[in-house]
Amino acid sequence: MEQISSLTTPVRGTPMTVDAAMALAISEAYKGGPRVSPNPLVGCVVLDAQGGFISAGHHEFYGGPHAEVNAVKNLSPEDLKGAHVIVTLEPCAHEGKTPSCAKMLAKLPIKRVTFGLIDPNPLVAGQGAEILRQVGIEADLYEADDLKLDQEMRIKLEEVCEAFLWNFRQKKVFVALKMASSLDGQVALRSGESQWITGSESREYVHYLRACYDGLLVGKGTIEFDNPSLNIRHPQVEKKNKVVVIDGEADLLEKYPDLKVSSMHDSQNVFWCVAEELKEDVQKKMQRLSKVPQVVFVKTKVGGDLDLEDLLAQLYKLGFRSILVEGGALTASSFVQSSLVNRIYMFQAPIIMGSGGSKSWTETVRIETMKDKIFIQHPSYKTFGNDFMITGRIQ
Ligand SMILES: NC(=O)c1ccc[n+]([C@@H]2O[C@H](COP(=O)([O-])OP(=O)(O)OC[C@H]3O[C@@H](n4cnc5c(N)ncnc54)[C@H](OP(=O)(O)O)[C@@H]3O)[C@@H](O)[C@H]2O)c1
Repeated sequence: MEQISSLTTPVRGTPMTVDAAMALAISEAYKGGPRVSPNPLVGCVVLDAQGGFISAGHHEFYGGPHAEVNAVKNLSPEDLKGAHVIVTLEPCAHEGKTPSCAKMLAKLPIKRVTFGLIDPNPLVAGQGAEILRQVGIEADLYEADDLKLDQEMRIKLEEVCEAFLWNFRQKKVFVALKMASSLDGQVALRSGESQWITGSESREYVHYLRACYDGLLVGKGTIEFDNPSLNIRHPQVEKKNKVVVIDGEADLLEKYPDLKVSSMHDSQNVFWCVAEELKEDVQKKMQRLSKVPQVVFVKTKVGGDLDLEDLLAQLYKLGFRSILVEGGALTASSFVQSSLVNRIYMFQAPIIMGSGGSKSWTETVRIETMKDKIFIQHPSYKTFGNDFMITGRIQ
C-alpha cells in the first residue's frame, strides 16, 4: 500500500504515453487508501487529443464520486474533445451509490477509454466498455507493447485493488500481516519487551497502514505485555479504527475496562474473539463489567486454539473486508501456519536481538523440505530511516 502517490502529477500539456498514464493512474488510486473500503482503489488520468496530460483523479472515499468523475469534473467540453481517458478499472456500468461512470463518460466528446482491469463481476464484466462502444467511443483493455512491462503493469493493476478482488473472488477477508523484526528475525525479547525495534519513520508508516485496512488484529499476549492504544496516529490521516483481539480463554476480558484499548476506542469498535464453548461463562462475566467490547464467539480446533478461518468468516459477516494482523509472535505465526495471510509487510531494523529465547514470528511454522518453503510473490522493497521493509503477496 503506497503511503502517498509516489509519482508526481505532470504539468498540464506534458506529453504522456499510455503506459506512463496508466502508471500515474495506479499511483493516483493509492491516494484513496484509507477511505474507500469496501470499494476498490481506482485512479484515472485524462490525456488531451494530442496526448498531453490534462487531469487526474481517484476514488476518494466510500460512497463518493468515482475516479472518472473526479478526473473529468474540472475539464471543459473543449478540453475533452478527442480526449483519451485511462482508468485502472473498467468504468462501472451499473448504478450503485453513485451513477454509472460508463454512462457519464458516454455523454462526453472523448475519443477513447483504456481500462486496466475488466470488472471482476462476471455478470457485469465488459458492460461498461459496451456502453462506451455503442456511442462510438473506443474502449479497450490496457495492454503494454512490451511483454515484460505488460506483466509488471498487470501485477500492479491487480495489487492496487487486491483486497476488493480477493473479497469478490473468495468472499473472504483479505489478511495482511505486519511485523517488525530484528535482522535475525526476532520480534520481542524473552521478557516480552519489544519497544522499539524499528525507528519512527517505519512506525509512522504502520499507522498509515492501519488506516488502509478495516481492522487491526492482535493476540492477547500483545495486550498483556504492551497495553497498546491500537489507534491511528498519523499526521495525514484522521480515522477511528476497529480493533480485533484474540483471547480464546477470555482471560483478559475482565480487565477490559482498565485497558488502554477500552479508553482509546468506542466499545462498538473493539471485537474480542473467544472460544464459542465459553459463551455462557463469558456472558455472565460481561454482566459484571462496567464496559464491554463486542464479543465474537469462534469455533475451536482440536487442542483448543481458535479456528482462525472461522474467526475470519465471522469478521466477514460483521462487515470486515480486510484486516491488518499486527502480532505478536504467536498470533502472526498462527496466521502463517494456517495459510491465511495474503500480504506481508516485514519491517527489518539493523539490530540483532539474538534467537536464544527471543520470540520469532514463525515460531510454530514447520517446514520440512525446501520445496515447501513459503515464497513472497512480487516482492517490493522500501526503506524507512535505517529500516528496510519488504512487502509482497503470500497468496
Ligand atoms: N515486533 C512486532 O512487530 C510486534 C508486534 C506486536 C507485538 N509484539 C510483541 O510480541 C509479544 C507478544 O507476542 P506473544 O506471542 O507473546 O503474544 P500474542 O501473539 O500477542 O498473543 C498470543 C496469544 O494469543 C492467543 N492466540 C493467538 N492465536 C490464537 C489462536 N489461534 N487461538 C487461540 N488463541 C490464540 C493465545 O492465547 P492463549 O495463551 O490464551 O492461548 C496466545 O498465547 C509482546 O512482547 C509484544 O510486545 C511485537
